[in-house]
Amino acid sequence: MNGKRILLIIGGGIAAFKSCELVRLLRKQGASVRCVVTASGQKFVTPMSLAALSEDKVYTDLFDLKDEAEMGHIQLSRQADLVVVAPATADLMARMAAGIADDLATTLLLATDKPVLCAPAMNVRMWQHPATQRNIATLRGDGITVLEPDEGPMACGEFGPGRLPEPEAIAAAIAVHLSTPTHPLSGKHIIVTAGPTHEPIDPVRVIANRSSGKQGFAIAAALAEAGAKVTLIAGPVSLPTPTGVTRIDVETARQMEAEVTNALPADAAIMVAAVADWRVDEAPAKLKKEAGPPALNWQKNPDILAGLCTAPNRPKLVIGFAAETETAVEHATAKRLRKGCDWIVANDVSIDKMGGEQNRVHLITDAGTESWDRMDKTAIARALAQRIADALA
Ligand SMILES: Cc1cc2nc3c(=O)[nH]c(=O)nc-3n(C[C@H](O)[C@H](O)[C@H](O)COP(=O)(O)O)c2cc1C
Repeated sequence: MNGKRILLIIGGGIAAFKSCELVRLLRKQGASVRCVVTASGQKFVTPMSLAALSEDKVYTDLFDLKDEAEMGHIQLSRQADLVVVAPATADLMARMAAGIADDLATTLLLATDKPVLCAPAMNVRMWQHPATQRNIATLRGDGITVLEPDEGPMACGEFGPGRLPEPEAIAAAIAVHLSTPTHPLSGKHIIVTAGPTHEPIDPVRVIANRSSGKQGFAIAAALAEAGAKVTLIAGPVSLPTPTGVTRIDVETARQMEAEVTNALPADAAIMVAAVADWRVDEAPAKLKKEAGPPALNWQKNPDILAGLCTAPNRPKLVIGFAAETETAVEHATAKRLRKGCDWIVANDVSIDKMGGEQNRVHLITDAGTESWDRMDKTAIARALAQRIADALA
């Protein structure tokens, strides 16, 4: 980020305090940061703190005659390599989507000729409201990058998506943004599978596994952020659909296989789902306890990844996932050759149990094995999206 200039717009959200840490991190990585704080933003963070951390004047008022003489608002909007809005409130994004310019922040955002990246933060209901989702779709359609918020407990006591991503994650997204074209995957169609499959035993029981779907959903979100058209084929999970992603829900391996075939052609496919290897012949009525342990008739499930690799309309890039509890790299290396996929991501589930927020992965390609640091699933997803963009370029 050396020498890059960032205009940071801080909206009036409870997470505004995190913008101080973001300024510090960006400056540590060599960028210069100029801050603009909305009137509401100043209720949460003071221009004084931001001025001290950025070592620059902080801008707050559109009608400041002295500034208009020294630095016009049009000039301010263009003297940056990237405009970042963090936290991006529901209100700011609504005004941006509508093209309203009624304060310094929104006027700069309308006047800028530079790329814009928003890091939203708000209450989960505000985030999920159709109006907010509509505004985000509009902003993405206008070429603005909108990061997915984190999920977790909120300051307001509720739980769900809407938390501001951690400053480290925003800084990483900014670094990626500054080093690459804004939407490197635009025009590409990518299929992602995620979650477990449920294989019925009888009308009330299933064979399942512990996959949460979080890594696959994060990958779908990161690919959509990078401009791809994403078809997400999801096993039974209770996760919200990432913005801009087409989601198809399935239960069994056979349904998942059929939907993957339906979704072709695609430029790439990332098979993250933990597909059950086996199913049993389903009993037509509930098996009774009194009848004793049932004799289950096991059948092999289709191998979706291997099947896709030999399909006549095979995507150019097919990526498999391997969740392993021991010798992850050896198992995954063998799996890559056996299945015929281009890359495999070995996921060491002995460190982070399935369902957690972090993963330690190894990326296995023709060129060898890369071991990535243990990090958040969203950070892994963004790094993988970047690698996919490079491979499809
Ligand atoms: C204590 C408090 C916390 C708030 N937190 C948020 C928030 O996290 N996200 C959000 O979109 N709005 C939040 N709001 C509402 C915004 O401050 C309000 O919509 C304001 O008009 C936003 O102004 P701005 O977009 O110009 O910064 C909060 C309001 C209060 C009083």
